[in-house]
Amino acid sequence: MVEVETVLVMETAPIKFGVNATAEIAFDLRRLGVTRALLVTDRNLMKTGLPDRVRKLAAEGGVQVEIYDGVHVEPTDASLEAAVSFAQGRNFDGFISVGGGSSIDTAKVVNLLTTYPAPLLDYVNKPIGKGLPVPGPLKPHIAVPTTAGTGSETTAVAVLDIPALKVKTGISHRYLRPSLGIVDPLNTITCPPMVTAAAGLDVLTHAVESYTTRPYNARPKYNPAERPAYIGANPLSDIWCEKAIEYVGRYLRRAVMNGLDLEARTYMALAATIAGIGFGNAGVHIPHGLAYPVAGMVRNYWPPDYQTEEPLVPHGISVVVTAPAAFRFTYPAAPERHLKAAALLGADVSGVAVTEGAEVLPRTLIGLMRDVGIPNGLAALGYGEADIPALVEGALKQQRILVNSPRDVGAEELKRILLDAMVYW
Ligand SMILES: [Fe+2]
Repeated sequence: MVEVETVLVMETAPIKFGVNATAEIAFDLRRLGVTRALLVTDRNLMKTGLPDRVRKLAAEGGVQVEIYDGVHVEPTDASLEAAVSFAQGRNFDGFISVGGGSSIDTAKVVNLLTTYPAPLLDYVNKPIGKGLPVPGPLKPHIAVPTTAGTGSETTAVAVLDIPALKVKTGISHRYLRPSLGIVDPLNTITCPPMVTAAAGLDVLTHAVESYTTRPYNARPKYNPAERPAYIGANPLSDIWCEKAIEYVGRYLRRAVMNGLDLEARTYMALAATIAGIGFGNAGVHIPHGLAYPVAGMVRNYWPPDYQTEEPLVPHGISVVVTAPAAFRFTYPAAPERHLKAAALLGADVSGVAVTEGAEVLPRTLIGLMRDVGIPNGLAALGYGEADIPALVEGALKQQRILVNSPRDVGAEELKRILLDAMVYW
């Protein structure tokens, strides 16, 4: 008999949260011993003036900051290597990232590869890379998110594309966690509606996937050195996931409709961070597994509000677009949890028998997607039935994520989910 897991782990980065928390950054840089930092950001964000403001705040506190603004939205191996070579040999003793997940993840990798130099692929997850462990603690890194989305300020993962192999993969190790996340709702105010909507639905899928993933105590026992970061749903991650789902249900529509609604921005920023804590420990499953090929194979979709010349399916859209179909499929594995998630989102589940509730969460999610302007399915992103074999093949490469599904999922099941996700309304 296989021995089941009895131990659960909860790790996160320290968080400083609140309106104008950014103003305290010099104090935190000094406290962490930083005297000369590299600030990692992207060119669009430079136009908002925030990176320059952070540089000035740091300088007033005696910390010298240089800016690198070459972050690629959805980082690639090449964009990461360019950032690393910018930083190499310049003796930075700390890092600041200002932006969405792409900037935060780029700073994680620059910190890693300038502290313990090695070819990028040495650290990339197996089987694409060698999956070598990070040798030791990294330099201080303060992450300042500007979208209420990835929760990357709390997580131990950096995600990257390798276009030559047509795969999205990552580096995952607890030492990648930033030393501090400064989550300031004011920094999300300039986020345009579609970016807010996509990021907010990324938050929601993080929370619902982690809430419904195969529980930690339904998995084989790990020895501590091999226990993965994603251990499965557990009583500690549930707390964070439930609250995040509730806040997205209450505040996402408001944040999309009126970007200046500070209360909605505040709770969405909080939701992103606490969902990050939940999924960073429990783990995501089918929608995030499918998101890799859905984003990677895009040919002809240009989302509104994203300044991009290349076609792009933003991460949040790529995950939520299959979520209703995926949760319809996973419902039988944990009906109460799916119903509870729908209720936290605002659905009335009173009197719904578990045997008849499979549609409640998908319907609630679809309602929210529609209200915030998300495309109505894979077809609207340019995919058709002819693309399904390639999408399935791409998703099957994400075994690390698919094994977290509460129901066993293979090619046939993925195909059914993708067909179901073509057109929702
Ligand atoms: Fe995500």
